[in-house]
Amino acid sequence: MRSKLIAGNWKMNGSLAANQDLLLAIAQGLGTPSCNVAVCVPSLYLAQVQHVCASSPIAWGAQDMSCFEIGAYTGEISASMLRDFGVRYVLVGHSERRQYHGETDEQVATKVQRALAAGITPIVCVGETLAQREAGLTADVVKRQLAAVIHANGHCISEVVVAYEPVWAIGTGKTASPEQAQEVHAMLRLQLLAASKQADRISILYGGSMNPANAVSLLAQPDIDGGLVGGASLKANEFLSIVAAASQ
Ligand code: 13P
Repeated sequence: MRSKLIAGNWKMNGSLAANQDLLLAIAQGLGTPSCNVAVCVPSLYLAQVQHVCASSPIAWGAQDMSCFEIGAYTGEISASMLRDFGVRYVLVGHSERRQYHGETDEQVATKVQRALAAGITPIVCVGETLAQREAGLTADVVKRQLAAVIHANGHCISEVVVAYEPVWAIGTGKTASPEQAQEVHAMLRLQLLAASKQADRISILYGGSMNPANAVSLLAQPDIDGGLVGGASLKANEFLSIVAAASQ
C-alpha cells in the first residue's frame, strides 16, 4: 500500500519572517496527518526549516541539486550538503529547471543517482508542454523523460518518487482533469513496473494548479498517490485542505 505524499514546492518565494509564519501555521493545523507532508524550499532556508520543523511531522526538501559530487562548480549545492540539513526529498528535473536552465534528461538521471547515493529521495518531475500535448506527444515525452532516469538507476528506481506535472497546468489555473492525469499516471506506472518488480510501491504525484477544490477528485484516482503543490502551498489553509483531502 502506497502512503500518500503532499509536497509543497515553494519555488522562489519566501523570507525568514514569512517562512516562520507559514511553517508554524501548517504545523499547528496539521495535527497528526495520516499522509506524508513535505515542503521543498529554497536551499538558503533549509537550516531555518530544519530548525522549525524538526519536531513536527513536516519533512523538508530542496528544489534542485548539483549533478556533481564535489569540487569547482561555483554556485552549486551537492547532495551531501543537502543531507547535512536533514533533507528528506529533492525535486529533480522540474519543468522550470528544464525550461529556464536547459536541464537535460541525462543530467536529471545523474542527479537522481547522486540523491539516492546520499540517502535523499528524489522527486523526479516529468511532463509535457501544451504544444506537445496538442501534437499527441504526451506519452512519448513523459516516457522518454522517465526512461532516462530508469536507465541510469536500474533496480534503485523503486526508491524514487515520480511527479507528473503537465507544463500547461503549472501556475495557470488549468488543472489536468482527474481522467487525463490518471491516464498518464497509469502509463508511468506500467513503465516503472516493466523496470522493477517493486515499482508498485513508487508514489506518483500529480502537480499543476492543484488546489483544495480539485484535490479530492484528483487524489481519488487509483494511480495518483499525492500532490506536488506550488501556489497553494504558500497559503497554510489551502495547503492544509489539500493534506486533508489526501488523508481521506
Ligand atoms: P502550481 O501548483 O502553482 O501550478 O505549481 C505546480 C508546480 O510546479 C509544483 O512543482
